[in-house]
Amino acid sequence: MMIRFCFLLLLLLLPLVAAEDPYRFFTWNISYGDIYPLGFKQQGILINGQFPGPEIYSVTNDNLIINVFNNLPEPFLLSWNGVQQRRNSYQDGVYGTTCPIPPGKNFTYTLQVKDQIGSYFYFPSLGFQKAAGAFGAIKVLSRPKIPVPFPDPADDFSLLVGDWYSLPQQRLRAVLDGGHRLPFPQALLINGRANVTSFTVEQGKTYRLRISNVGLQNTLNFRIQGHNLKLVEVEGTHTEQTTYSSLDVHVGQSYSVLITADQTPKDYYIVVSTRFTSKVLTSTATLHYSNSQQPVSGPIPAGPTTQIDWSIQQARSIRTNLTASGPRPNPQGSYHYGLVNVSRTIILESSAAQVQGKQRYAVNSVSFIPADTPLKLADYFKIDGVFKVGSIPDRPSGKPMYLDTSVIGADFRAFVEIVFQNHENIVQSWHLDGYSFWVVGMDGGVWTPASRNEYNLRDAVSRCTTQVYPKSWTAIYIALDNVGMWNVRSEFWARQYLGQQFYLRVYSPVESSRDEYPIPKNALLCGRAVGRTPRL
Ligand SMILES: *[C@@H]1O[C@H](CO)[C@@H](O)[C@H](O)[C@H]1NC(C)=O
Ligand SMILES: *[C@@H]1O[C@H](CO)[C@@H](O)[C@H](O)[C@H]1NC(C)=O
Ligand SMILES: *[C@@H]1O[C@H](CO)[C@@H](O)[C@H](O)[C@H]1NC(C)=O
Ligand SMILES: *[C@@H]1O[C@H](CO)[C@@H](O)[C@H](O)[C@H]1NC(C)=O
Ligand SMILES: *[C@@H]1O[C@H](CO)[C@@H](O)[C@H](O)[C@H]1NC(C)=O
Repeated sequence: MMIRFCFLLLLLLLPLVAAEDPYRFFTWNISYGDIYPLGFKQQGILINGQFPGPEIYSVTNDNLIINVFNNLPEPFLLSWNGVQQRRNSYQDGVYGTTCPIPPGKNFTYTLQVKDQIGSYFYFPSLGFQKAAGAFGAIKVLSRPKIPVPFPDPADDFSLLVGDWYSLPQQRLRAVLDGGHRLPFPQALLINGRANVTSFTVEQGKTYRLRISNVGLQNTLNFRIQGHNLKLVEVEGTHTEQTTYSSLDVHVGQSYSVLITADQTPKDYYIVVSTRFTSKVLTSTATLHYSNSQQPVSGPIPAGPTTQIDWSIQQARSIRTNLTASGPRPNPQGSYHYGLVNVSRTIILESSAAQVQGKQRYAVNSVSFIPADTPLKLADYFKIDGVFKVGSIPDRPSGKPMYLDTSVIGADFRAFVEIVFQNHENIVQSWHLDGYSFWVVGMDGGVWTPASRNEYNLRDAVSRCTTQVYPKSWTAIYIALDNVGMWNVRSEFWARQYLGQQFYLRVYSPVESSRDEYPIPKNALLCGRAVGRTPRL
């Protein structure tokens, strides 16, 4: 009797215990300050005086409480590339979900890295602030009892790589506001510097490198002189451990590789260079053996010379390790995404054109313009006239480009296929907030229903950012299990800024707090939401 009672009590207590996942607290002061990424002074956006910003180290299910004080003379918002914000799109930190933090004010984000592992990053989402800093790495480690499919590395380094301009972000934004295209960037940075950063390793040991492309548009090839890269994780998926001599990292993407310091003790080049560009930018860092007798020497190793074919083959070779655990103890392969029936197909075609004499970019002919009120708040307070669900069609319409606050409506628990069709001659990169999705296929040409025959329905990787090659398509599957207002965007930042984005409103008619958290008590209100009172 007593035993049964205790057991019942335990059952009753379980949800409480489970709710008490660990908390990590951060206080961040955002300010302008001098940085010297290319050796000369530039104005950077610093977090607690740092450029890049501090790394967030966390473990699956941790609550991250981040109090952000905006000491810039302009509004500011941070977004969390890859952190899913389950049931909580209010915290997503893009203008469609969250009011900007006014100058001199603060806002406390309450995030949870619920059921996630992997490598991600945060960045400032407004205007062109991303071109000045305030980005940083996010690591989500597995809980201690969950097996990781490789031995503990001797160290775990984050490498934030990306293209960089010598022009201030305000100037870049003014160029775009004026209807023009941006010039080619000046240089590439690795952790905020070109040709300066050094990583020290010990002979014989193995290290994890988490590489995120936090840049504005260019795909970067990553490689290390004399060392192979063993790919182990892509945006939260443990991969089949395949060895590559170099890796293409598209803008907005994150990869983890293992490297073993098994060469002659000296210093080696770590290299990034732009891909698919006529002028190639290169930047290096140093892999320094602690017992090194010799500085870096020899030519900087060259990147792949073949272009698209090499890259697409590499992308297709990246597979999920079905038997390895992800955030939970069960194997990643236990969810058979290939057996689920697709309830809806959405085909998204990107385009570039002039609208009223100004350069714009669109999806299915709609070039996104922000509303005066975050869409999530308009939805919550039922403010009419801010946006219309269905303001962007499910298929290319062939219409000339036009401006609208585009929102696609979708049903909670639908299983959706999205095809990104790229008729242009550039590599694109697409990101979806709130989710990770299976990249089931990519190929040259125009997608047709017959393209489904070449889908990988077994061990495609689940991730949050995918590339789409020039004059090619990429298809993804998504289980819409996260209610909210979610940004779908080009990670090519000028294109995102000039309209190549929209929101996916995943809606449940039940409107239950089981499916979506209530509006946060500290939510800032702006636009037409000012002065409204949350229903509590
Ligand atoms: C934040 O940074 C600004 C600019 O450096 C400084 O004036 C202010 O005192 C800092 N605030 C806090 C709370 O550290
Ligand atoms: C601003 O910071 C204070 C603590 O200094 C905190 O109590 C308050 O909730 C924060 N404001 C918001 C909107 O999060
Ligand atoms: C960094 O080194 C590369 C390769 O030597 C060179 O092309 C590039 O100009 C350098 N970048 C800077 C900012 O010095
Ligand atoms: C897949 O993961 C398992 C752990 O479940 C590991 O033993 C195996 O080596 C991994 N296979 C590859 C190819 O990475
Ligand atoms: C998918 O649809 C087929 C045919 O309509 C049906 O037989 C099957 O049971 C469905 N599968 C699932 C997992 O719902």
